[in-house]
Amino acid sequence: MKIAIGNDHAGVEMKQAVSDHLKERGIEVINLGTDTLESVDYPVYGRRVAHAVVDGDADLGILICGTGIGISLAANKVPGIRAAVCSEPFSARLSRQHNDSNILAFGSRVIGPGTALDIVDAWLDASFEGGRHQRRVDLIENSEND
Ligand code: RB5
Repeated sequence: MKIAIGNDHAGVEMKQAVSDHLKERGIEVINLGTDTLESVDYPVYGRRVAHAVVDGDADLGILICGTGIGISLAANKVPGIRAAVCSEPFSARLSRQHNDSNILAFGSRVIGPGTALDIVDAWLDASFEGGRHQRRVDLIENSEND
């Protein structure tokens, strides 16, 4: 399993904790930056991770900015991406089971590192249930051509 991870300046510290945790789980981490506290534009990193996922360089992606919102909005512009902003484990689990999310996003200014790791675990331990949910995901995907 390979996970691409990206963040803006607000997410550098939390990215480190999440990356360490992923490696402890035996997951290969593809770090797509940023790695300094210098102010950067979150859409750049959201799109980098999104493209790594749709191009097949990574199985899944994780994005971190101050809120998780801006960086996920940017990722969701890439066709095939379903980025879910989650601030607790329940939504993270359901975003996999029902929405087949392929990117998890959260905000370093919203949650602490302990919650972030719980969210990551809930997301990774869940899998897409298919069935009626597949139809709904297909409807989302089809609307990319609207
Ligand atoms: C950066 O200051 C902040 O706007 C960004 O991290 C994020 O919260 C945007 O959605």
